[in-house]
Amino acid sequence: MFYNIDCIEGAKKYLADSSVDLIITDPPYGIKGDTLHKHYNRNEKNVLDGYIEVPESEYKEFSERWIKEAERVLRPGGSIYIVSGYSNLHHILNALGQTSLTEINHIIWKYNFGVYTKNKYISSHYHILYYCKPAKKNAGRQGKKPTFNTFSRFSDSEKSESNGSLNYQDREDVWIINREYKPGKIKNKNELPSQLLIKMIQYSSNPGDTVCDFFLGSFSTAKIAIGLDRKATGFEKSAVAYNHQIKEIKKIIPGSLLSQLRVPPKNVLHKQGQPVSDKERKEIVTKFAALQKKGLTKKESLAEITKKTGRGYWSLLKIIDQKKV
Ligand SMILES: C[S@@+](CC[C@H](N)C(=O)[O-])C[C@H]1O[C@@H](n2cnc3c(N)ncnc32)[C@H](O)[C@@H]1O
Repeated sequence: MFYNIDCIEGAKKYLADSSVDLIITDPPYGIKGDTLHKHYNRNEKNVLDGYIEVPESEYKEFSERWIKEAERVLRPGGSIYIVSGYSNLHHILNALGQTSLTEINHIIWKYNFGVYTKNKYISSHYHILYYCKPAKKNAGRQGKKPTFNTFSRFSDSEKSESNGSLNYQDREDVWIINREYKPGKIKNKNELPSQLLIKMIQYSSNPGDTVCDFFLGSFSTAKIAIGLDRKATGFEKSAVAYNHQIKEIKKIIPGSLLSQLRVPPKNVLHKQGQPVSDKERKEIVTKFAALQKKGLTKKESLAEITKKTGRGYWSLLKIIDQKKV
């Protein structure tokens, strides 16, 4: 469900406590004379009118009020990502500090098409504040731990050309993701790129979860969420933006983006942390002895056993050294 209403009023009216699994949102920046869109969108004719700004003087109180609502509607263990420029970042950080939400990461999103400036550095990043609502113990669904699908995009064994771990690289907190250049298409000023949204949704939610955006703009979060088979909800105060996008969102087929996602190979260490049965222990020790007999080094033998058992070097070493068969 999507509502053409101020998000604070809308959340109070339409969203129950603890009803949302994930919030991804990009509030207005509250900057006077924001010219970013002029550089980025290039053709002003394709930018939808009706973007509603928040006066700088009201930004502090505004941030406190909507973030308090976001905290209320998020389920314990739910996650929130807030995209912010640097000018009013302190208000958002202070507002978050007044809630129970806990900081998980402060991500830097580096984009292209920064606003060109001659006598100072060119601004080409945004902040993404990734917080979670503390989980409640023994509270069923309400108490679920934060969702973080560590291996949803890259498995533990995938390497880059320079032999670095792709999983590690994808989970670093500086994200280099280009804005989308959509010539001829109608868009909201500051539209978030799909790759950015896909990344947050893949890591922090599962199919069927509810994803909410307090500031829908072009409904980009909602479109990607539905495409990835999540439920979506949110608010947009501008009637112009809402009326245009509410027609567009109906064209999105639930789950239609899932087939475009890369499927990472199975983790090599897929049994890491799981208890070892006596039977498995015996098999490992026997296999190790056989490989040693064949002339393999200790390291080569353990690498061979890792492939078969899904257990890491150190845990295998412990089993071999204990030799409890
Ligand atoms: C930065 S844009 C969001 C862009 C969006 N993430 C996208 O990718 O298109 C902020 C949006 O919030 C809307 N807005 C401003 N104040 C609002 C409020 N109080 N409640 C709901 N929407 C609001 C603006 O009209 C604008 O469309």
